[in-house]
Amino acid sequence: MRRILFALPFAAIGAGALAIHLPDPAAPTWSEEDLSLVRSLSLDALPPVPADPSNRVADDPRAAALGRSIFFDTRFSSNGKVACATCHLPDRQFQDDRALSKGVSETSRRAMPIAGMAHSPFLFWDGRKDSFWSQALGPLESAVEHGGDRTQYAHVIGAHYAEAYVEVFGPLPDLDVLPARAGPVADPAAATAWEGMARSDREAVNLVFANVGKAIAAFERTIAPPETRFDLWVASREFPGPGLLTTEEIAGLRVFLGAGGCVNCHGGPLLSDGHFHNTGVPAVPGLPEDRGRETGALLVREDPFNCLGPYSDAQPADCAELRFMVPAGADMLRAFKTPSLRGAASRPPYMHAGQIPDLERVIAHYVAAPEAPAGQSELRPLTLDHTQRHELAAFLGALDPLP
Ligand code: HEC
Ligand code: HEC
Repeated sequence: MRRILFALPFAAIGAGALAIHLPDPAAPTWSEEDLSLVRSLSLDALPPVPADPSNRVADDPRAAALGRSIFFDTRFSSNGKVACATCHLPDRQFQDDRALSKGVSETSRRAMPIAGMAHSPFLFWDGRKDSFWSQALGPLESAVEHGGDRTQYAHVIGAHYAEAYVEVFGPLPDLDVLPARAGPVADPAAATAWEGMARSDREAVNLVFANVGKAIAAFERTIAPPETRFDLWVASREFPGPGLLTTEEIAGLRVFLGAGGCVNCHGGPLLSDGHFHNTGVPAVPGLPEDRGRETGALLVREDPFNCLGPYSDAQPADCAELRFMVPAGADMLRAFKTPSLRGAASRPPYMHAGQIPDLERVIAHYVAAPEAPAGQSELRPLTLDHTQRHELAAFLGALDPLP
């Protein structure tokens, strides 16, 4: 575990001092190192979306337009009511404000926002997918999310998107020979029908299925994190003095970097290291046991739709993240992906199953650093007084998208 403590100079400005004296903007000193750390959190530091060699249409605008339509299309579900946008609402940062998401039925985790996640090598709270396109295939086949299956989706493409599909991906297979409902899914009738199909037909359907994911991925890659007051402040003339950020928010930034140690995991322009950590978040009674990254690391390597699989457009050399990922380790038990803190202040509840209802209690969690329900929490208790906690929450508010 990496937990560098930025003891100085941030810790030197005790909150007590701030509470007693009127805050003097000239007083706190920022070293060049501090300033470059702060700049590294700004959107200006975000590189262009990395290439995805596993998806040859990743940056094809026609694929993105097709993927956008599919993202909002409820015909890609067993009951005709669920689309990606059901749980990833564009006007709600592409998430749904629920502790547990609801599709055809209820999920056992919270929906994740999508903006900027093209930069994330692994997707989902447990990282069981290694690309946007492979990720999209999960909910489509999940019995509690879209609830449908592969031949159903191939038929929807044939009936409603044939022209756009053929233009991007080439000819569709002969769909007339395919069962209406078949796929390796929980539904027993669809699963049996899938087993009964010729291998070549299954492969042809898999290709259409993977291409649906690739079109969705092309769309998702265009979803960039919106600018925040924090980003404008870093680019402003008054930086690092108060202006677009208040003195309180700037003090909160110092807690974030210093006494809070938040930047150790929530670093970089997305305020996430993209890695997996056990932070002692409580389990939810009544939900199945969730072992987090421990399970995700196994699943991503076995996934036929991963970067090394037959439906990937990549060469093995392009799949470094997957090939060189750490496959197992004691620190993976109940480790979850560090979420981006961009926009977090305005989208409670928090954590992988919405366990914590508000920011105040998130910060209280970090201060207390409770023992993990399984595995080992990486957190150590913090000493943050009331003022510092308040400042920290205020700073997180400055990471909200501009109205
Ligand atoms: C029923 C609600 C629901 C639907 C429908 C749904 N999702 Fe999700 N989405 C979730 C939940 C819950 C998670 C986290 C699940 C997990 O970690 O196991 C998630 C995670 C994700 C992630 C991972 C983000 C990250 O940071 O790792 C992406 C990307 C995503 N969904 C895209 C999609 C796409 C594309 C579709 C449509 C094909 C879709 N989702 C359909 C609820 C939903
Ligand atoms: C050891 C790494 C680590 C450190 C240090 C850390 N976090 Fe986190 N943070 C995480 C992980 C991992 C999660 C998701 C945990 C889960 O869902 O089980 C998370 C979740 C969050 C969330 C919820 C976001 C959401 O969308 O659900 C907030 C807010 C947050 N952290 C703020 C902070 C603050 C403030 C600090 C400093 C006091 C901090 N974090 C320190 C790793 C860390």
